[in-house]
Amino acid sequence: MSEFILETNGLTKEFKGFAAVSDVNLKVQRGHIHALIGPNGAGKTTVFNLLTKFLPPTAGTIRFDGRDVTHEAPAATARRGLVRSFQISATFPHLTVMENVRIGLQRKLGTEYHFWRSEKSLDVLNDKAMALLEAVDLASFADTVTAEMPYGRKRALEIATTLALEPKMMLLDEPTQGMGNEDISRVVDLIRKVSANRSILMVEHNLSVVANLCDRITVLTRGSVLAEGSYDEVSKDPSVLEAYVGSDDMNDAHH
Ligand SMILES: Nc1ncnc2c1ncn2[C@@H]1O[C@H](COP(=O)(O)OP(=O)(O)OP(=O)(O)O)[C@@H](O)[C@H]1O
Ligand SMILES: [Mg+2]
Repeated sequence: MSEFILETNGLTKEFKGFAAVSDVNLKVQRGHIHALIGPNGAGKTTVFNLLTKFLPPTAGTIRFDGRDVTHEAPAATARRGLVRSFQISATFPHLTVMENVRIGLQRKLGTEYHFWRSEKSLDVLNDKAMALLEAVDLASFADTVTAEMPYGRKRALEIATTLALEPKMMLLDEPTQGMGNEDISRVVDLIRKVSANRSILMVEHNLSVVANLCDRITVLTRGSVLAEGSYDEVSKDPSVLEAYVGSDDMNDAHH
């Protein structure tokens, strides 16, 4: 088993000759929380769209969990365990929190033929749904209509519906976006908790979140990898500081 759960080689995406992602070699170690950071327009979301097969690459390869998945269908790669939160798992606002998690579980279990042959299947579904809600600290919201929950709690529910698919690796695109400090610290705790036994690649603009949470960081600028290393390493790299000119983010993040 490779030390790296995800490896891209020469990953490139051009839009009408413009290279949004250019020759990216990304390696994510098994069990790590790995951050992908960089200024607006650096190509972070495009990398995610390539990894999930939402977009086909212009060049390069993607290896996940020991296999070349570059030309595999999106659903097949998701079934292998590479899952993006808020992609497959969008929640239904008019259903309760419990109903949303049950739908996520049905997606997973529904593909397992034997599950529905058991008379106990619905009990199993309810037990698993409740366990997931407890894991993301939403048990007390089980019967709440999703639309009526605070924003930060909705993001936690989205993570729960992704967890229902039992991913080996989760892709999180700006999980703390638009949140206040209280919700941010709750989501940080949640990501740390769900990272047990799995790998996470996250795009995150909030550098104090990156500093506190992530084992390794890749910095992208204009489609290319500028630097890679621990937070201490990349935050001292003059070329990284240069890329972040105009913001003191890199220096303020550490505490
Ligand atoms: N479908 C597309 N067609 C043309 N250009 C695109 C497309 N998608 C992205 N781009 C361009 O590719 C570049 C990278 O965009 P991307 O969304 O990946 O950046 P990002 O790092 O996620 O930025 P942000 O931090 O603002 O989310 C940008 O210049 C963007 O305009
Ligand atoms: Mg983006």
